[in-house]
Amino acid sequence: MPASRRGSGSFTLTTGQTIAIHTRTHDEEDLPHATKKTMADHLRKYESLFTLTPQRMRMIVEAFTETLELGLNKPNQIVPMIPTYVFGWPTGQETGDFLALDLGGTNLRVCLVTLQGEGKFEISQTKYRLTEEQKQEDGQKLFDFCAECLHTFVETNTGEGAGQLKPGQSLPLGFTFSYPCSQERIDHGELIRWTKGFGAGNTEGRDVAEMFKKSLEKYQLPIKLTALINDTTGTLIASHYVNPKTKIAVIFGTGCNAAYMEHVKDISKIEHLGIDPGAEMAINCEWGAFDSFEHEHLPRTKYDTIVDDTSNKPGEQAFEKLISGRYLGEILRLVICELIDEGVLFLGQNTYKLEKPYCFDTAFLSLMESDPTDELLMVIGIFTHFFALETTLAERQFFRALAKLIGRRAARLSACGIAAIVSKMGHLEEGCSVGADGSLYNKYPGFADRVHEGLQDIFGDKGRNIVTHHAEDGSGVGSAIIAAMTKHRKDAGLYLNV
Ligand code: BGC
Repeated sequence: MPASRRGSGSFTLTTGQTIAIHTRTHDEEDLPHATKKTMADHLRKYESLFTLTPQRMRMIVEAFTETLELGLNKPNQIVPMIPTYVFGWPTGQETGDFLALDLGGTNLRVCLVTLQGEGKFEISQTKYRLTEEQKQEDGQKLFDFCAECLHTFVETNTGEGAGQLKPGQSLPLGFTFSYPCSQERIDHGELIRWTKGFGAGNTEGRDVAEMFKKSLEKYQLPIKLTALINDTTGTLIASHYVNPKTKIAVIFGTGCNAAYMEHVKDISKIEHLGIDPGAEMAINCEWGAFDSFEHEHLPRTKYDTIVDDTSNKPGEQAFEKLISGRYLGEILRLVICELIDEGVLFLGQNTYKLEKPYCFDTAFLSLMESDPTDELLMVIGIFTHFFALETTLAERQFFRALAKLIGRRAARLSACGIAAIVSKMGHLEEGCSVGADGSLYNKYPGFADRVHEGLQDIFGDKGRNIVTHHAEDGSGVGSAIIAAMTKHRKDAGLYLNV
């Protein structure tokens, strides 16, 4: 009998579930397993599929830059480059109490933010879980649920004791709605399409701000919707509030997207609005849609095509589907399933648990990559605990290497998007900070380093001038700052224009 090993640890999945694992396994088992050499041969094949050369990256950057320009010049483009009506940077002197509601993916979050000026703030918040049905049912019902949560939160946090609200007073609310919405003003937003697996009916093509106001009325809440914002725009403003070198913000979470500050004179599609051409306005790029439908520029593998074809939105969000946390685990699972079908992996074992779409959480990739043990005990734990599968060391090393390939490709593609904005805005020489947030950026080991490495592959040494950093809470603090900036503009008689 070979020596047995034990491993244990605990971690939290993107679903919020915390798992403790205790593992016991053997170095070699009686089951038929692939040899070390077979796994190494397969790895070479996947290496060539998932690796992006610097030259290929530069080609992507070029196409990306053209796409960004097109979105600024013409309405209704695939990458819509949405004008947000957030004008310029915060002063740091914004003050007051603001509510922030954040509907972006897994959770719904309600915050009360007190901006104290000089870049300081206090925040209290509550999270509410969204069910799968809520994401797919009727849109108005989803907004009613948001209003209901706000109602509970306001009762608890602004009643007597908390002493926040005087009779007749209403709180300004920044609503972070992290889906592509085309905006005509800051408190308006027509949903272009749901992303990240959402599909609530009767919502696409409608003004979600209006729908949400209806829900607020139902609950007669002392709340005024001041601004509808995207999480990237909130992140841009919040990060600049604390680090004025910030010029770009990126979210690497369930979805992927970026925002940056643009010169109004260069947004030709809104020329007719007569906004001061000397002003600046934040642009929500919605870059996750890059290369959608046509699939001309991105290096898609057959696994990416399957992810796309079997998604609730085939053809859409092509860039996002190669990068974001919602999809990376599924890409890896599809590769493993192919090797199961070819009879390379898990012969003689029952693999039904692994055959369920989306059962392989992206958190598993980061856990595998950060496993510090020689035997890869964490990898053992994942496969035995979640999928009832025995693995050999050679197989575990292969899974880890595969995770690395998929994670690295995601980071290098993200670098291409950042490089496109940097080139377009001429930020390379002077350098700039990129505020980044989201589970992939915050939790995936080495993700930031790989983005930086990618930027250097694209720009050479000057790529070092572009540095990402962990962003301030965009959908809480950022949304409050934007609500404050908007209130200030309204008080000064500047609502739509500068
Ligand atoms: C949405 C964006 C959002 C991003 C990150 C994407 O799926 O389209 O609006 O900013 O996810 O949350």
